[in-house]
Amino acid sequence: MSRKKTILDIQKMKADGEKIAMLTCYDYPTARIMDSCGIDMILIGDSVGVVFSGYDNTLPVTMDEMLYHTKAVMRSNPKALVVSDMPFMSYQTDIRDARLNAGRFIKEGGAAAVKIEGGVNMAPVIKALVAIDIPVVAHIGLTPQSIHRMGGYKVQGKKIEQAESLMEDARAVEDAGAFAVVLEGIPQSLAQRITDSLNIPTIGIGAGSHCDGQVLVIHDILGLCEKYSPKFVKRYADVREIVADAVNAYILDVRQGNFPTEEHSFN
Ligand code: KIV
Repeated sequence: MSRKKTILDIQKMKADGEKIAMLTCYDYPTARIMDSCGIDMILIGDSVGVVFSGYDNTLPVTMDEMLYHTKAVMRSNPKALVVSDMPFMSYQTDIRDARLNAGRFIKEGGAAAVKIEGGVNMAPVIKALVAIDIPVVAHIGLTPQSIHRMGGYKVQGKKIEQAESLMEDARAVEDAGAFAVVLEGIPQSLAQRITDSLNIPTIGIGAGSHCDGQVLVIHDILGLCEKYSPKFVKRYADVREIVADAVNAYILDVRQGNFPTEEHSFN
């Protein structure tokens, strides 16, 4: 596709039974690579706080940090649909804050949509954003901003009552107007039930193969961050080793006087 993807293209993919491929991205060069590969959706996830900034979890991530990364990605002028993650406390306080902060991602950052963690509890916020034409991706199940409530990053919806409450969350975010929903860390049978019962696309992460699409953190698939290694991640490359080999070769060259040579010098 030579034009930019829209939320209509993403929704049509579910209707046509085409799987949606989404990855996180936080910088300009990676966005260029991903877009040249034809990724459908790019998420500037608040996971940037963990895999890029080195925080223990996503809670400290600020609006300024998210905007900085959104702008860097958008400078690559991607064809993919770009979604910015709303960081902790940028939308939970009240509707006005949520609207102002979401609006900054669209107006200043150039994103096409925002992502919000929460189900029934966040339906009024989703509704308020959609009412001012800000498209929303909802995010239910294992929601990393709820780490303290969940007592860690634990699979959600294993018990019947929990599964029913996640079904309610899924219906609530669709009714509120979300155009897609991320299902994170839930049993695959539940993800299948949710996917079958919604009209909007489900995008899974640790939610099995029945979702309409999948999302992973780019640092995880590249083997760039060894801090966590969740079961649901598939590692496609070991970039950490490639970088370490290059840095070791450089150090050796400098120490042995093999770099720079004439080739790298001015006369
Ligand atoms: O922040 C993030 O990267 C996310 C995805 C993993 C869904 O929320």
